[in-house]
Amino acid sequence: MCGIIAYTGSRQAAPILLAGLRDLEYRGYDSAGVALLPESGGEPAVAKRRGKIAELDAAIGAEPLPPARTGIGHTRWATHGAPSDANAHPHTGSGNDVVIVHNGIVENYAALRAELSERGHAFESETDTETIAHLLEEALDSGNDLLAAMRETCARLAGSQAIVALTSREPGVAVGARIGHAGAVVVGYGEGEMLLSSDLAALLPHTRDVAFLADRQLVRIDERGATYETLDGSAAAEVEPRTVSLDPASADKGAYDTYMLKEIMEQPAALADTFGGLMTVEPARLTLDDLGEARPWLERVERVLLVGMGTSLHAAMVGRWYFEQIARLPADTDNASEFRYREPVLGPETLVVSVSQSGETVDVLEAMNVARASGAPQITICNTPGSQTTRVADGAVHTYAGLERGVASSKTFTTSIAALFALALETARVRGRISDDELARHVRDLAAMPEIVGRQLESFDGIAKAADRFRTTQHILFLGRGPALPIALEGALKMKELSYVHAEGYAAGEMKHGPIALIDPTFPTVALAGQHALRSKIVSNIEQIRARDGEVLAIVTEGDDELIALANEALTVPPVPALLEPLAAIVPLQVLAYATADARGCDIDQPRNLAKTVTVE
Ligand code: M6R
Repeated sequence: MCGIIAYTGSRQAAPILLAGLRDLEYRGYDSAGVALLPESGGEPAVAKRRGKIAELDAAIGAEPLPPARTGIGHTRWATHGAPSDANAHPHTGSGNDVVIVHNGIVENYAALRAELSERGHAFESETDTETIAHLLEEALDSGNDLLAAMRETCARLAGSQAIVALTSREPGVAVGARIGHAGAVVVGYGEGEMLLSSDLAALLPHTRDVAFLADRQLVRIDERGATYETLDGSAAAEVEPRTVSLDPASADKGAYDTYMLKEIMEQPAALADTFGGLMTVEPARLTLDDLGEARPWLERVERVLLVGMGTSLHAAMVGRWYFEQIARLPADTDNASEFRYREPVLGPETLVVSVSQSGETVDVLEAMNVARASGAPQITICNTPGSQTTRVADGAVHTYAGLERGVASSKTFTTSIAALFALALETARVRGRISDDELARHVRDLAAMPEIVGRQLESFDGIAKAADRFRTTQHILFLGRGPALPIALEGALKMKELSYVHAEGYAAGEMKHGPIALIDPTFPTVALAGQHALRSKIVSNIEQIRARDGEVLAIVTEGDDELIALANEALTVPPVPALLEPLAAIVPLQVLAYATADARGCDIDQPRNLAKTVTVE
């Protein structure tokens, strides 16, 4: 949560920082600000405003900033202190010559604030962040340079942090630090310029050569390059920039009104790219080249545990089916935030598979730490090369969805499912659970999905009508069974986060155990009733709802006239093999949630209260 950008080099910093903040706005949009070290010297110039970047742009338009070639910027998702101008980052110390931006929570900020106040520091905000600026100022006053001052300051902070700082005492320098899982600090290597950011997205317009700070690392940048240290003061090992293959053009909205619509429509290409990265059809071969030290464990483990949060957890739930059905391995899923606190019983016999598109979700990273401490081998399914989950896990299966900018996930959901399918196939193959012919059939089936999803996206028949119906509804029940349960959960999540309509995803078999009491003519149900989703059982659920005057929108297989007649409305999906039905079934639900939100006038790319990457607990 919160977006960070820093620039130092030969160009004017302000336009680069402001463009970077627009690229980072999905990290939080409660307030935004920049601080510049003026070329003419003197204290940093700070501009910050509550609200979105447009408010900051207007403020800078009214009161222009001085020319500067070094600066930092921040877009905030509020934790401590309400969204306001005063609580917006950057924050300064008492003397105004130190300025910082921050992502994370200073858990001991109250004690630090009391201690600093006693020593005469005056605070201007209610944030935990401001204590860091005052501590840094004291550390500089006692003769440290900025890097040493940052190290000394970090040693006082409890909790996970990502921090970037400037001081007028060292023009042309910015220092960054990462402690724990408050979010990435990515170092961008340009030509005669250097950048820092919380995300690759803001760096890609300038460079593809990047390095990720590891936990407890510090970096100092100036226009010539970067030096790295660890928090104990030793030189950091192995920080080499790598060239990422992500396309900066994928950061544009193109002809679409929203990133999310673009990303929904990009799913055929994202699936094709992910397929191409993980397998070939002729010959039918899996090419999971990044499994690293986890590879031998595929043969040895006795069970699989998949963890994730939100949409990625729903993808993991589909993955569980794959491990059970294809590899015949006991498999389970867990919400990463629950798993980590439960003292889970596991060891080297359990393969832990984490799913995280960002690779930076704090709950997932903490769950991975628990798994590592238990000796469990780990593989991560991730869309962000170089991110923290890929560093903690023993091996990775990368998805090739490109940047996802909409806060609500779409293409990273379907590509994570494709990657889990590939990993389950590989597991089945090395364990001798699958013949060459079966493998070839599964590979062909997945290869066909991009085109099938593409055809689904060509026509939105019936969705506008359903969205118009849901525009005024207060609550919706989403029901699914078997592999359709995660799709019901994901459909409900998309609906609530985009349109703010209360939506509950439920196991259809559970309906009679309580939720059926809610059914009346004002409480519609979306029933996942594809050919493989235990259709006959879902037919009974639909009958029971209709018998109580409930309305049903059924998601059915093309040509299923019986169900089309039974439901009030139906959206069809093409017939596909059972294991891949989730990929087809989610498409109309993504579009339905989108259209409902659009009809209700919601901010689709930046739903209220949310941020794309959740790095605080
Ligand atoms: O980056 P991750 O995949 O780890 O993110 C996990 C969740 O925060 C995320 O999937 C979230 O639920 C979706 N953006 C909601 O659409």
